Amino acid sequence: MSKPKSSTSFYTPETVSCNNETFKLLLSHEEINNRISELGAAIDEDYRDKKPILIGILNGAFIFLSDLMRHITIPCEVDFYKLSSYGDAKVSSGNVKQRKDIDADITGRHIIIVEDIVDTGLSANYIMNIVEQKNPASVEIVTLLKKPEALKYHVDVKYVGFEIPTLFVLGYGLDYAQEGRNLAQIYVLDEKAAKNS
Ligand code: IMP
Repeated sequence: MSKPKSSTSFYTPETVSCNNETFKLLLSHEEINNRISELGAAIDEDYRDKKPILIGILNGAFIFLSDLMRHITIPCEVDFYKLSSYGDAKVSSGNVKQRKDIDADITGRHIIIVEDIVDTGLSANYIMNIVEQKNPASVEIVTLLKKPEALKYHVDVKYVGFEIPTLFVLGYGLDYAQEGRNLAQIYVLDEKAAKNS
């Protein structure tokens, strides 16, 4: 990786290599930022005077959550769950494990679960069940990405950044075997490059 030109401009190549596989640009930094600004405005509107708690699902959601929070102008709080489901593979393991609990008392509070991506819906469904048992006033989900054709578990997602095809994506918090989370844009596995190699 070469260095970005200045501290305010991100590294935004058209293709990237991660763990010896090639990925091509799917969503640019500008597209992501514009959409997150719209999501922030919708949350501002819906949660005025409700002081929501945004609960990020680690690790993948940390970049989206930090940008989303800065597009929200009403008072809000933040907490985190940590889950793991993918391991180092490109397909979901079908198992989800909780690695970290939240600290906040969410009884009677308005909760917004922040996901990087809803793929099969397993993680979102799992978190929704845990959160609902703690008697919040309301719970909704915001996800940057959703793969509608991959959905296997019931989950209502109120705010969706982008619907994408059932393909493996990387960057903006999403990893491939723990690498690539630091990319400022979202990339998709280049199937052609994979076949030709
Ligand atoms: P789900 O439980 O199947 O909906 O998957 C949710 C989690 O799997 C996400 O929070 C991601 O961490 C991971 N994941 C799903 N799809 C992708 C992908 O295309 N790239 C990287 N990680 C993914």
